[in-house]
Amino acid sequence: MSDTELLSLQTDHIRTLQQRYEQAIAEQGYDGLLISSGAAPVRYGDDQAWHFQGYGPFLHWTGLTGQEHSWLLVRPGQKPLLSLYQPVDFWHATPELPDEPWLQSMDVRFSDRRDAPAMDFNGRLAVVGDPSQLSGVDGEHNPEDLLSALDETRVHKTPYEIACLARANHIAMQGHRAARKTFLDGGSEFAINLAYQQATGQREAQAPYHSIIGVNEHAGTLHYQYYDTEAPVRPRSLLIDAGVRFRGYCSDITRTTPGAGERRFAALIQGLEQLQQRLCGMVAPGVDYVAIHRKTHQGIAALLNAAGVVQGVDDETLVERGVTQAFFPHGIGHFLGVQVHDVAGKKAPSPSDAPFLRLTRTLEAGMVVTIEPGVYIIPSLLDPVLNGPLGKNFNRSVIDELRGCGGIRIEDNVVVTPDGARNLTREADG
Ligand code: GLY
Ligand code: MN
Ligand code: MN
Repeated sequence: MSDTELLSLQTDHIRTLQQRYEQAIAEQGYDGLLISSGAAPVRYGDDQAWHFQGYGPFLHWTGLTGQEHSWLLVRPGQKPLLSLYQPVDFWHATPELPDEPWLQSMDVRFSDRRDAPAMDFNGRLAVVGDPSQLSGVDGEHNPEDLLSALDETRVHKTPYEIACLARANHIAMQGHRAARKTFLDGGSEFAINLAYQQATGQREAQAPYHSIIGVNEHAGTLHYQYYDTEAPVRPRSLLIDAGVRFRGYCSDITRTTPGAGERRFAALIQGLEQLQQRLCGMVAPGVDYVAIHRKTHQGIAALLNAAGVVQGVDDETLVERGVTQAFFPHGIGHFLGVQVHDVAGKKAPSPSDAPFLRLTRTLEAGMVVTIEPGVYIIPSLLDPVLNGPLGKNFNRSVIDELRGCGGIRIEDNVVVTPDGARNLTREADG
């Protein structure tokens, strides 16, 4: 899609948001809504601030991830008022505002003050944002029912949002290819991270989340957060979970690569890849996302049996006795949007057999989800299983071999379409 088409979709997106927000505001009995962009807090006892990424509803309208101390006023029947903080500051650069058509849908003002804009407003006003930014602002702060209604406006992505998520996938896949090459060329986790950043043109602080880059055993820590500067003598595996932001929208992609000669681990990756593709194939309107999660456990049980990790226990028993949960402790995925774990995933709480599942809804067209099965050797979860009644059924030498490879995760970003699904990550990989 050309940039011109994308920008034209953005104007439609803002029109849609105006309708959705007007409805949410009216249904909750308000006359207007003031949204704070947020601002990065200064570290305690220091004069340095944390990295800033912006508050979801502000990003939903503007995509301006770097704009702190700014405000958006939404009122029924009127253009949104966007007040952007532009201080006179010789220490820092002020964020550049792009000259783009969507700004014509807004009444844009600049302010050198951090507080809420002066507004000619009568009526009941709701104000949403980080409470640390709202003190002294008139209006009702973060009313819970309204917040839920606003979250709901983010569930069904507009064509503009899907185009942004597609671009975020396209850019991230360039990074994943560079990361894989750097690993296979003998690079360290640190070098892999640099290669990813170089290929995506994205600073770490701009990424939707800290890139997870685990070589060998580190691949078994779900959110491994350090980078070794030295490559191991024997590089056996790479798990990289990394995304980018494009106009505020996140990708969230994981790939696992076997080291040279790791035939058993490579076969397990291939098996999980086939399962992951079958799970992506389940994504369609009317499908219960929890059912995809449960199907994952069945698939992993079959994989453990086929790989010879376990013997003499049928798949059903492996699921029922919690064995698959020890190998795959997280949920199958979540909503994706201007936040990597996007909002409104749980109308119902997670079921007891899926305690970490972030999405429990029935899928509908326009939703965007991740599908991210994994198989890991995590000693704190696996040891109780190995020492339990089924312990004798495990092939310890296979487990010990896999232990040094840490784990596997394969994660794609998938749009629910009216008649099925569109896999943005595989499209970007093609
Ligand atoms: N990157 C975090 C996740 O996959 O949910
Ligand atoms: Mn994810
Ligand atoms: Mn991820």
